[in-house]
Amino acid sequence: MEVRSDFLVIGTGIAGLSFALEAAKSGTVTIVTKKDKTEASTNYAQGGIASVFDPEDSFQAHVKDTLESGDGLCHEDIVQRVVQDGPARIRELIAMGVHFSHQSSNRENLDLGREGGHSRRRIVHTKDLTGREVERILLQRAEENAHIRIFENHMAIDLITQSRIIKRGMVTSETRESCWGAYVLDIDDNTVSTFLARITVLATGGAGKVYRYTSNPDIATGDGVAVGYRAGVKAANMEFVQFHPTCLYHPQAKNFLISEAVRGEGGVLLDGKGRRFMERYHPLKDLAFRDIVARSIDMELKKSGEYCVYLDISHKPPDFVRNRFPHIYETCMGFQIDITREPIPVVPAAHYMCGGLLTDENGLTNLDNLYAIGEVACTGLHGANRLASNSLLEALVFARRSADHSREKVSGEEPKAPPSAPHWDPGGATDSEELVVVSHNWDEIRRFMWNYVGIVRTNKRLVRARTRVDNIQEEIKEYYWNFTVSSDLLELRNLALVAEMIIACASLRKESRGLHYNLDYPSRDSKHWRRDTVIWK
Ligand code: SIN
Repeated sequence: MEVRSDFLVIGTGIAGLSFALEAAKSGTVTIVTKKDKTEASTNYAQGGIASVFDPEDSFQAHVKDTLESGDGLCHEDIVQRVVQDGPARIRELIAMGVHFSHQSSNRENLDLGREGGHSRRRIVHTKDLTGREVERILLQRAEENAHIRIFENHMAIDLITQSRIIKRGMVTSETRESCWGAYVLDIDDNTVSTFLARITVLATGGAGKVYRYTSNPDIATGDGVAVGYRAGVKAANMEFVQFHPTCLYHPQAKNFLISEAVRGEGGVLLDGKGRRFMERYHPLKDLAFRDIVARSIDMELKKSGEYCVYLDISHKPPDFVRNRFPHIYETCMGFQIDITREPIPVVPAAHYMCGGLLTDENGLTNLDNLYAIGEVACTGLHGANRLASNSLLEALVFARRSADHSREKVSGEEPKAPPSAPHWDPGGATDSEELVVVSHNWDEIRRFMWNYVGIVRTNKRLVRARTRVDNIQEEIKEYYWNFTVSSDLLELRNLALVAEMIIACASLRKESRGLHYNLDYPSRDSKHWRRDTVIWK
């Protein structure tokens, strides 16, 4: 099958859908998503969207907090743009029908939450289910739009690039490397189709599943980063993996986040003996920047030998807790933990990729016609450590910027999609009966990444991780060429590449900064390392 449209969007989170809705004003849009269209990391975002609405707040203050959190690596021009565009983007969501929490019954006054590293209350939220509410409305609007077509259970395998087409003799003139769409696997019937487009957008979210413990849903296998990198897109700052300090620690709880907003509303961290410890690590205590809180918990756990620390909000009135955090309250009750009466057992877990595919101020990558937006991208906003609730903000702002930029292109003659592209060539691949190879390698990657490339790293650990990922890559390569592709195999292939990229960037950076902490270089070295770590194939 061949599907043609002006815009191809890969991913149905806040970034992909926001882009699609804008792009649909100028052309036809195809969206592909590897699962059910509602399954996106956006859905799991509890905290909210950081933006300046409080009259006593200011853009300067939000910029300053973001820069401080980013530990010297944010691009200040990008930070300024994103912060300034924030309120307008949020008002547009409200106009579309998103219900954010308000103070009492006053519809004009948004209830602004607080999270770590923010000097003021500025988190626009829908109780503790912000992502779900935003996703619900964006999806509704996209489904109503006659110019948008959504393909569920479709997974991008690789991008269709100019050089790939030239290689097959289908066009001759070589210009700059450009992107013309993607080969996409229909997961239900295991066929591969050619999706051609004038503009392609990677909005596939993050890669938390590369670690054994993560707050991310199962879909977060770094597909967009891997697909882009294989096609020649530059990537940056992959060493800066953000570990969220507080995920629920319970044998039956998978990936459940306890929002930082709980600490924003007065929750405190306690050790196994019920003692507060954050004052020993940072003057902002429990509301210190996320890298500091996660590292402090890691140190406490290593010191005490215990499995978890505790987050306590039981000193607040029960009605307040139940009303402000209904989702967390209900979920914890499901595990027999009443958060209005007892502390919550928590541990850090991989949460967010601050690095990703390198883009300019419009979300454009170094491949013509290819944009990357949302968690898959490295725009310069987050630097070495993302400020809490700046991610949905970035997704909204860059979705709009890249939509404006690419719509302008599409309304002219160029880029013109090629008349045809080679069909997917399965070679001599046969079905595999050895799926254990996939699950074994998947587990192994996640284990060594957690143990060797986690919150605290050393040179030796990074070398060990490199050796292991190289072996696994070899095995996957052989497997990939000999057997028919399946979504499991594609995810494993992507996950292994993302692991390799994280290890590569972490090994290059010879200092500790933000989320990257290496015991062999425990201090910051701004003379040599106040710069992005850029890698490409
Ligand atoms: C949270 O609610 O703690 C997550 C917010 C974020 O990752 O920005």
